[in-house]
Amino acid sequence: MEFKVLSTCGEARYGKLKGTHGETETPCFMPVGTLGAVKGVTWKNVKEMGYSLVLSNVYHLYLRPGLEVIEEAGGIHSFTGWKDLILTDSGGFQVFSLGSLMKLTEEGVEFCSHLDGSKHFFTPEFVIEFEERIGVDIGMVLDECTPYPATYDYAKHSMERTLRWAKRSIEARTTDRTALFGIVQGGVYEDLRLKCVEEITRLPFEGFAIGGLSVGEPKEEMYRITRLVAPNLPSDKPRYLMGVGTPEDILEAVEAGVDMFDCVMPTRNARNGTLFTSYGKVNIKAAKYKKDFTPLDPNCDCYTCRNFTKAYLRHLYVSREVNSVILNTIHNLHFYAKLMEGIREAIKEGRFAQFKEEFLRKFRGEGS
Ligand code: GUN
Ligand code: ZN
Repeated sequence: MEFKVLSTCGEARYGKLKGTHGETETPCFMPVGTLGAVKGVTWKNVKEMGYSLVLSNVYHLYLRPGLEVIEEAGGIHSFTGWKDLILTDSGGFQVFSLGSLMKLTEEGVEFCSHLDGSKHFFTPEFVIEFEERIGVDIGMVLDECTPYPATYDYAKHSMERTLRWAKRSIEARTTDRTALFGIVQGGVYEDLRLKCVEEITRLPFEGFAIGGLSVGEPKEEMYRITRLVAPNLPSDKPRYLMGVGTPEDILEAVEAGVDMFDCVMPTRNARNGTLFTSYGKVNIKAAKYKKDFTPLDPNCDCYTCRNFTKAYLRHLYVSREVNSVILNTIHNLHFYAKLMEGIREAIKEGRFAQFKEEFLRKFRGEGS
């Protein structure tokens, strides 16, 4: 993997990341394709919106369809038909968030399948082996996502285990076709975060992620930790803020020097009728749109906004028509793609602060 920062504006960075299967400009947002597909859209849509890096998940792919099927298909790219970059999260977070965690030990994590209740065990070594064998461009290490709230002692021990797992992950690698990212934990405790940064950056990872945020802590805590951690990570490697976030969160984190993001928000919100527009969030099921024959966002040039009205989108939503999910997802992912493009242009032109202010003024302004 290759990463180059090409311009900066304050701490914000514009760069290019090149992996085994393609390249992307940064800061970038990764659409979430947990099961090997982005819900509601085809890869053709995803690509045309300008995305070339998507996120998937070891936990889900391991349970179904399983390593054997993906390997026999010739890897994750041949199996899914997505020809560009793929990053997989390690599964640690999913084990916690799906409530299937059984037992956490020094060796690894035991969990129950959310599909059939069967028992499984992940070690840091197995996760690396899985990511390398399915051939992802970027693999995340197995970590322990410290919950919020957590005591200082809990966060400390959890962070230290994540560090030991990170070392084991590095030792388990067998190829550089799959780049490996380490994950910084430490809860909301500044000294633990800095200690974790100091230790994990000694290891030869190709990039570093900030984990354990957006897990229920107040926004200010998340921003405080992001502003502390990001600038302390190596400036020549990509920085990824996991599971974040809203347009506001992304702008804050880019300002702190973060390069990569992923979040279910645009796709999940699309499915429950919450649409992002330049003038705020729109709840498309609202009665006031019943006879609103104007486009969702006049400033958006996506397929949905160019061709359909709010009244029609509301009708599709209320009727639970499959097209509702498709058209809403196209719009929301397009909105996020345009946001990231705007961010990159602004950094290149040295006007990120103005861009952020202008965007938020409009976004927070009217709304619906
Ligand atoms: N996704 C969101 N947060 C996290 C985290 O802390 N660890 C991992 N592995 N994935 C995440
Ligand atoms: Zn649109």
